[in-house]
Amino acid sequence: MASLPSAAKTPNPAANSSFLPRRHHYFSLSPSSSLRFRPKYSSGACRATSRREDDDGSHRRSTRRDVLLAGGLYGAAAALTQSPAAFSQPITAPDTTQCGAADLPAGAEPTNCCPPPARRFKDFIEFKLPSPKEPMRIRPAAHLVDKAYIDKYEKAISLMKALPDDDPRSFKNQANVHCAYCNGAYDQVGITPSVALQIHFSWIFFPFHRYHLYFFERILGKLIDDPTFALPFWNWDSPDGMQIPAIFADPASPLYDAIRAPDHLPGGSSPLVDLDWSRSAASLTPEAQWQSNRDVMHTQMVSGAKKRTLFFGTPLKAGDLADGNGQGTLERTPHGNLHIWVGDLTREYKEDMGNLYSAGRDPLFYCHHGNVDRMWDLWKTLGPRRTDFTDPDWLDAAFLFYDENCKLVRCKIRDSLDNEKLRTGYQSVPILWKDSKRVPKKIRNKATAATATKKKRERVPKTKSATTTTKKKRELTDLSKFPLVLNKAISVAVPRPRKNRSKAEKEEEEEVVVVKGIEIDRSQVIKFDVALNDDDDGAPAGPRDTEFAGSFVNVPHRQKPGASKFKTALTLGITDLLEDLGADGDDTVVVTLVPKVGEPVIGGLKIDYLAD
Ligand code: C2O
Repeated sequence: MASLPSAAKTPNPAANSSFLPRRHHYFSLSPSSSLRFRPKYSSGACRATSRREDDDGSHRRSTRRDVLLAGGLYGAAAALTQSPAAFSQPITAPDTTQCGAADLPAGAEPTNCCPPPARRFKDFIEFKLPSPKEPMRIRPAAHLVDKAYIDKYEKAISLMKALPDDDPRSFKNQANVHCAYCNGAYDQVGITPSVALQIHFSWIFFPFHRYHLYFFERILGKLIDDPTFALPFWNWDSPDGMQIPAIFADPASPLYDAIRAPDHLPGGSSPLVDLDWSRSAASLTPEAQWQSNRDVMHTQMVSGAKKRTLFFGTPLKAGDLADGNGQGTLERTPHGNLHIWVGDLTREYKEDMGNLYSAGRDPLFYCHHGNVDRMWDLWKTLGPRRTDFTDPDWLDAAFLFYDENCKLVRCKIRDSLDNEKLRTGYQSVPILWKDSKRVPKKIRNKATAATATKKKRERVPKTKSATTTTKKKRELTDLSKFPLVLNKAISVAVPRPRKNRSKAEKEEEEEVVVVKGIEIDRSQVIKFDVALNDDDDGAPAGPRDTEFAGSFVNVPHRQKPGASKFKTALTLGITDLLEDLGADGDDTVVVTLVPKVGEPVIGGLKIDYLAD
């Protein structure tokens, strides 16, 4: 039940234990000395010294007043209605002074994920776009960089890793920023009972990570005194980028991380990036792997991402749990898949990349997210109405980051939309997936069968002709059987409220299949696939088949409130898919769910129409 915001939560009780930095350590400068303190950037550390630019110099101690101010009208309104969502407000920047214990996997090495806090709640400055006169930082593809670049990049990362723990720019604190925002170290300000701030699984996913890279990159540039320094991006959407970039695989390099899946390292037993990876997947030849990856990209960026909420994920507003919302196409696949693919699956918690709390400890994380960020820019060029949201509850959602000068900066999504204004861009590389066209499995199978028959005839004339592919209709599970545990593939005939819609209607609203009430243990790897009208011929449809609609992917994480249960939904755009299958005139569509990793509970299925 919502009520007036109470005083902020009890600070991290673990903060006093001996292995963690003591909180007062961050406050080692007295307020007056901090006014005189000028960080010496190139020669070493600085500390969290940010002050509000409009600070009146009074030394308010209570955070409660600030909490009330921030909660303001919203908090009071929520108290009356008991329904936070009824009074939509943007997600607000967290209160770093109240950063608490992150919810880590039981048994994981205890870590304090709180970056150095501000002295007081509102000790932050507002983000300002860099001057248009600043040089552009053009991010190169990681497999195309030269020795000079690698030297520079390694030097910058080494310097960042050498910064002390109370310097908010240190590599450790950069990883902590990510952990804090995804493992419940911050509560949403002004919301009672407390709701964790979670930057995955919704529409704030892209902008948060864009800002994280922006500051990470500027800090590196500052450390090596190079205002043009740009992070590399992992070009996993191209045939040449289908491996962990070599620069991250040298054990002697500061870009190396020992906690990765050994099989997936260059030179390992299955080094090719599989954008649709799941544990059971067999290794493919480079050509076949590329075709699969190309088709995955097309589905996630083009045919399956025609509406904003499909691409970005669903809205998350103040008071909302990230539960119940949904990830966008790209956040699930390839983003989530690749996290899990890089992480060490022999470890219980799949560190480093395979668990959100530890992902930022791998320098490859920032390179992976470079390409994720690049996809945001690309998506906007791929068709009509592919624009950013204009909802103020998205535009005004805010995060806090330390900049290269150790200032704590409040950043709103509205300032993140244009990479050029951030003086950031990407090296132009060929994009080979835009026009890829999948083939319905039934046609591919027919072709294969025909070839096989022909060959057989050539070899042994006069034998009876080979049987064509065994094409069986799938056994159907009734819709009334939900909720159910998905422990084997099931198929369900789902009614379609509309059929044969006009072109204009299709542009207006995307037909979607919604997998409702998905319940998972969020700390586990979970993946299941969704296919439409897929005949039972022994092999379920894969990313190269038109029948394949997409996958649900959970990167292990935890988040308060406590329980590891996570309830969410999966919405997949299927207008093109149904057309390509010639099924647009059908009254029902057969939806097949195939568990790949884990056994989620599925609440139900429906066909719906999505306008945005
Ligand atoms: Cu915040 Cu790739 O995760």
